Amino acid sequence: MTAAAAPDLSLLPKAELHLHIEGTLEPELIFHLAERNRVPMRYSDVDELRSRYKFSSLSDFLALYYDNMAVLVSEADFYDLTRAYLARARSEGLRHVEIFFDPQAHTARGVPLEVVLAGLGEAARASQRDFGVSSALIPNFLRDRPLEEAMSMLSGLLGSDAPIVAVGLDSAEVGNPPARFAALFDLARASGLHGVAHAGEEGPASYVWEALDVLRVQRVDHGVRSMEDPALVDRLRDEGTPLTVCPLSNVVLGGFATLSGHPVAAMLSAGLHVTVNSDDPAYFGGYIGENYARVAATFGLDRAALAQLARNAIMAAFVGPARRAELLDELDRWEGSRAQLVG
Ligand code: HPA
Ligand code: ZN
Repeated sequence: MTAAAAPDLSLLPKAELHLHIEGTLEPELIFHLAERNRVPMRYSDVDELRSRYKFSSLSDFLALYYDNMAVLVSEADFYDLTRAYLARARSEGLRHVEIFFDPQAHTARGVPLEVVLAGLGEAARASQRDFGVSSALIPNFLRDRPLEEAMSMLSGLLGSDAPIVAVGLDSAEVGNPPARFAALFDLARASGLHGVAHAGEEGPASYVWEALDVLRVQRVDHGVRSMEDPALVDRLRDEGTPLTVCPLSNVVLGGFATLSGHPVAAMLSAGLHVTVNSDDPAYFGGYIGENYARVAATFGLDRAALAQLARNAIMAAFVGPARRAELLDELDRWEGSRAQLVG
């Protein structure tokens, strides 16, 4: 008997729920935009910049991530960045994406919120038509900045017509527990938006409890440190809370020394609603297909387990019933095509 060939993961219909659009800034695009906007670069070329892409921690990464955003200035920059990701998304077999962005990181540099939203919004609105990828936007608030700043940003966002479906919380986690942002998430919920938050990436399991109990989020971003708290694992499993896990990100930022030491397989075995995502793929060595492929190879996931990961993401997506049904149908066809081949 021969071993089954590894499935072509670009054919597996996937959804990505944890992707920072600023984290898709490839060095080549950084140089292109720097030239277009006459932004001085401190690196002589792409290779020198790429050689800086080695990180010891989340804050070490965030310093470069925020620094590189200096090249994003105009509506066209935000549009081009998002189009590049969406084209890539299509080739990776993504069918639905929920795109995080950090509005405060741009307004703090003097880029108006309207410019950011116009570029991202136009790209997102065209993505179904041009790439067959449905998409939505999720502004993330910077947890290391004041609540008041986030509240005033939220009112600006609520006044826009950009396709925003939820609010999120990101940036430096340790020392910045979620509870301080309760009023922000209350207002977002009252305004009809969903809530998600990074928790349990570098921070402790108690931050995941807080995100659930105080922010009342519907999904937890990362959440890998939940595995240190058996009562939390029970709760996440019983409530079916989706976790947007980013395996390559966690290894590159030093949360786990190797992928084989990453808890993603244990999380699946514990019955958690795990999804696989790429986080900041330009920085972490792989887009979503690479995250699926490396997890599959490392933990020996079969076709059924890969389909389950894709199904988990589709079920956790902030889409209406018609789009969810389309995505599930496509996934069923992927599974069925294999059954016919075998039968
Ligand atoms: N964690 C927190 N903040 C972030 C991340 C992350 O993985 N990526 C971009 N901002
Ligand atoms: Zn993230």
